[in-house]
Amino acid sequence: MRIAVTGARGRLGRALCEALTDAAFAGPAAVFPWSRPDYDLDDLGAAERLLARDRPDLVVHAAAWTDVDGCARHPQLANRRNGEATDALARACLGTGSDLLVISTNEVFDGRRPDRRGYRPNDRVGPINAYGESKLAGERAARGAFGVSSSNAAGGSGSRLGIIRTAWLFGPPGNDFPTKILAAAERARVVGEPLHVVSDEIGSPTYAPDLAAAIVALVGTGGYGGLRHIVNGGQASRADWAREILRQAGVDVIVEDIASTAWPRASTPPAWAVLASDVPVRPWPEAMAAYLPRIMQASVGSGPPP
Ligand SMILES: NC(=O)c1ccc[n+]([C@@H]2O[C@H](COP(=O)([O-])OP(=O)(O)OC[C@H]3O[C@@H](n4cnc5c(N)ncnc54)[C@H](OP(=O)(O)O)[C@@H]3O)[C@@H](O)[C@H]2O)c1
Repeated sequence: MRIAVTGARGRLGRALCEALTDAAFAGPAAVFPWSRPDYDLDDLGAAERLLARDRPDLVVHAAAWTDVDGCARHPQLANRRNGEATDALARACLGTGSDLLVISTNEVFDGRRPDRRGYRPNDRVGPINAYGESKLAGERAARGAFGVSSSNAAGGSGSRLGIIRTAWLFGPPGNDFPTKILAAAERARVVGEPLHVVSDEIGSPTYAPDLAAAIVALVGTGGYGGLRHIVNGGQASRADWAREILRQAGVDVIVEDIASTAWPRASTPPAWAVLASDVPVRPWPEAMAAYLPRIMQASVGSGPPP
């Protein structure tokens, strides 16, 4: 099976390329990593060119403008990169008969779910920021192009369009929440102060290589059509996540809770960012424990990123 991955140098894209290269049904010769400058979200003709060149059976669309504050400052650009580019890709895929798997986000929800359960695929969407709006526009554009009529229905397996929503990704190449917390904790330790971390944002931390493995397993069975949520097991506030990172790393710095209002930013993150996973994935603290040695090794050796 020939599979192209957009955003192939991104956090999820690189994990997907690695997992697909190891998969029996794909392998190195059948994986087409589409990264900038080949596939740039600002180039609406790129998909058609690359599809004609590589003729993949399936495109996994992991590229996105993920700078949520940038999206808030430039909502039209966000809509072009996350909405219109997905539309162009979906139409191009239909033109060549390629399947499409779009990666989306918890930020299509407003984060105000009152019963404190994880969002399910058919729950009512209602983004509260420009990034979420633009990603929802991408979902809708793909559904529109593939003729999946209901705005929020989960399609059956065998459909040629799949949408997978995930949340709070972490993993190589670093520059993610765990590496930022470890760096901030080191600064706090040096000056003998506690670390202040937001406690009123709660989500589903998800290890990109675990998500990639779950996606590759779905692709291997051919059952990737329809709308799904995939996250690691468990949930945490940002502050609790930070405490677990420092506990596992053996860093003796106190984490003090603060409210998100104390950390002003351009985008408004949904307070409740928890998704109910349609696929069982190990609990996030276990994934964190698998990832931590890679962060430590990279920081000690100052070598290549994890
Ligand atoms: N990160 C999260 O917490 C999170 C949570 C939920 C859902 N998601 C979704 O999961 C998918 C993968 O996310 P990720 O964390 O792997 O993202 P990422 O690391 O930011 O990777 C996104 C990729 O898109 C590429 N890209 C191509 N054209 C671009 C353009 N014009 N502007 C900006 N980027 C462009 C980037 O290329 P370069 O490498 O060359 O910059 C990058 O490789 C995305 O669809 C995202 O919306 C992410």
